Amino acid sequence: MKNDSISTPPFKFETERLTLRKPSLDDAQHIFNEYAQNAKVTKYMNWLPHTSVETTQNFIGNCCQWWENGEEFSWVITHKTENTPIGMISLRINDFKAILGYVLSESYWNKGYISEAAKILINWALNQSEIHRVWAFCDIENPASAKVMEKVGMKREGILKRWALHPNLPNNPRDCICFAITK
Ligand SMILES: CC(C)(COP(=O)(O)OP(=O)(O)OC[C@H]1O[C@@H](n2cnc3c(N)ncnc32)[C@H](O)[C@@H]1OP(=O)(O)O)[C@@H](O)C(=O)NCCC(=O)NCCS
Repeated sequence: MKNDSISTPPFKFETERLTLRKPSLDDAQHIFNEYAQNAKVTKYMNWLPHTSVETTQNFIGNCCQWWENGEEFSWVITHKTENTPIGMISLRINDFKAILGYVLSESYWNKGYISEAAKILINWALNQSEIHRVWAFCDIENPASAKVMEKVGMKREGILKRWALHPNLPNNPRDCICFAITK
């Protein structure tokens, strides 16, 4: 059942270099090939590397369902001139707060892509009258993700001790760093 009290974001955003669009099941094979089975990419994520495309298909099916019920909004990231996913970014809206999540194929790291994608979503979210806070967290040992959050104007709020399960790493639940931007 859709929660009508929250805003539904656009299915598509365009930035200078990227398109963000609602995922479709046709994306699963590309996502599996491009990054979902790469242990370097999943290292700090809350999921294990996918060992079959069926796992990726199930995940994309869930993403589509979450769009329908407003639980989470995710977009595949493509280069503007192409339709092939190179990553994903998501917003989960809970009352006046939105939490951001993201992942990118290793081939495209350190080109500013996730910062570019995150900025347009943060801008959309903070332009919604009911959303006052966009926040995110990353594993304490994930400096690239922490840097993204700083680059997009989020402020470091502190350490969330024993906050998240990152099954590719030891010592779970893991300490995480919390960042937020508010209005
Ligand atoms: C985290 C991730 C999404 C960043 O995406 P990206 O498009 O490479 O990010 P950007 O290029 O916008 O910014 C990355 C910044 O981190 C810096 N960085 C990268 N590795 C770093 C490291 N080991 N230590 C310090 N800084 C680092 C880069 O230099 C860059 O900063 P700069 O632009 O000032 O040079 C990408 O690395 C990724 O998908 N990682 C695996 C999945 C993941 O960890 N997701 C986040 C879960 S919270």
